[in-house]
Amino acid sequence: MMKQRLHPFLNILPKGKTALRPRIYPRLHGSPCTRLLFTAPNTHRSRQFHKSLGPGLLVAVGLSASFIFSSVVHAEAPPKHDDVPQTRLIRLSEVEKHGGDAETQWITKGTRVYDITEWIPGHPGGEVILRAAGGAVDSYWDIFTIHKKQEVYDILDSYYIGDVDPSDLIDGEVPVDHIDNPFKNDPIRDERLIVHSQYPCNAETPTTELVKFITPNETFYVRNHMWVPETSLKGHTITIELPNGDEKMYTMEELTEKFQKVSITAALQCSGNRRKDMSEGSRQTNGLPWSIGGISNAVWSGVRLRDVLEDAGFPVNDLQDDVKHAQFMGAEAYGASIPIDKAVDKRGDVLLAYEMNGQPLPHDHGFPVRVLVPGNVAARSVKWVNRVVVSEEESPSQWQQRDYKCFGPNVNGNVDWSTAPAIQEMPVQSAITSLRDISCNATQDSGLPQINDLKGDVVAVEGYAYSGGGRAIVRVDLSADGGRTWHQAQLLKDLPEGEGGHKAWAWTRWRSVIPRHKAGKCFVVKAVDEAYNTQAGEYEPYYNFRGNLTSSWHKVEYRPGESEIT
Ligand code: MTE
Repeated sequence: MMKQRLHPFLNILPKGKTALRPRIYPRLHGSPCTRLLFTAPNTHRSRQFHKSLGPGLLVAVGLSASFIFSSVVHAEAPPKHDDVPQTRLIRLSEVEKHGGDAETQWITKGTRVYDITEWIPGHPGGEVILRAAGGAVDSYWDIFTIHKKQEVYDILDSYYIGDVDPSDLIDGEVPVDHIDNPFKNDPIRDERLIVHSQYPCNAETPTTELVKFITPNETFYVRNHMWVPETSLKGHTITIELPNGDEKMYTMEELTEKFQKVSITAALQCSGNRRKDMSEGSRQTNGLPWSIGGISNAVWSGVRLRDVLEDAGFPVNDLQDDVKHAQFMGAEAYGASIPIDKAVDKRGDVLLAYEMNGQPLPHDHGFPVRVLVPGNVAARSVKWVNRVVVSEEESPSQWQQRDYKCFGPNVNGNVDWSTAPAIQEMPVQSAITSLRDISCNATQDSGLPQINDLKGDVVAVEGYAYSGGGRAIVRVDLSADGGRTWHQAQLLKDLPEGEGGHKAWAWTRWRSVIPRHKAGKCFVVKAVDEAYNTQAGEYEPYYNFRGNLTSSWHKVEYRPGESEIT
């Protein structure tokens, strides 16, 4: 058993909660040529939320129940004559009295009741557990895979105080209207998104939309670890916490009126983009099977984080050595951090963004305000941000300390996460988003590169290229024969010189046409950035069990006559 560091969200717990006795808590650990298909029109699953939770919950509850049944002793229950401890029966109305604001917090899981008051200070998810206080934890429990471990059931078990009174149960279960739906604020989403999971929503941009320089808001990929929190323009605030403990709070009105509005054009890319390629090109990885649409590009407007930090009293031009990170907290409990140098860099263009493509941020993308860290993995661009902490330490959240890290190809899931750094800047990436047979006459109106001596039909190829850290794409190499011979694709100048921000934060679109008779069975693309970083040819040597940062050559199978990509 190791001591778990307290979660930063404890900072925002109601007063008094942080003073609770901390409890020891164990540290939890938490291709080949691909054929691209036309976008599946709508892969949304229309299951009801509770149905989708059902099977998982049954497993979870069943597991915990079978494990803990024999060990339960209730202190207040009068002993039976034969000394076998009796179960205390608790009414749901009694549980309800122990919500987040009560002196002690109770939850139910399945039909069992737990007093979790002493767990809260040590709970790695911090205050998020308070959402369930006074009711059923089931719908929250199931969202976090970290819970599905025996050691976590054991911890919960130690807080057991009794069973729900059978007179409150329907068919032996807690009635559905007693179980909160955390996803009740999730918006209705565009049917063209390719959905990997509905709750929480993880959905990628279809290839038909990836060919556009600016991804429309409705088809911008969505990566939510939890639910979309209830937020409002009027009620939302951002608190800046300085290393000396001083705090300054800003309303949205203050933010938009007091500071200069800035717009940048930037791609956001999930570290799991193209994970599916890694799984297919080497071995199974652990995570959602994102294809090439875990990336999108938009115009973001907001205020510079640097300006707000300075206004709050942070000396942005005179950094002390012990100030190393800017931590961000989202309203639903997500958290991440970036190095302080990036946060205050005038040319780093880190924003507190409140507009996306000229519109207020959509709810899925952080309404009313999110952090936008261009050039870094999108996991650091915290949505629904309500707190920024300038500190010596990185964010202790699991998304900073675990998940978004890479290990060697030989390493399986059993790792000491602290031995690898958190992913920040992204490596160079490219993908083919469109592969079409067209007649060479059609190229004249298509905006595709013209080839003078071209006769007969051609294959038109399009795609994106992107690199982290604002490193510009300087070259895109394309092969029509599986990587034997190469030529350079045309790079599109979608952004006029000097626009879009201080560095190359946006993706670069590229195009090419290949005479049909030269097209082999497999098209391959790789890009080169201004630091001459390029993409690897294979997957296996770059395998990591989480499938993060997949950036090996993107390969697409070519079938004459049926070559449209989706
Ligand atoms: N911020 C909050 N509050 N909650 C989240 O789940 N997901 C992160 C990041 N910021 C996340 C978040 C991850 S992993 C990604 S890839 C991006 O948001 C996705 O941003 P998008 O949904 O706007 O495309």
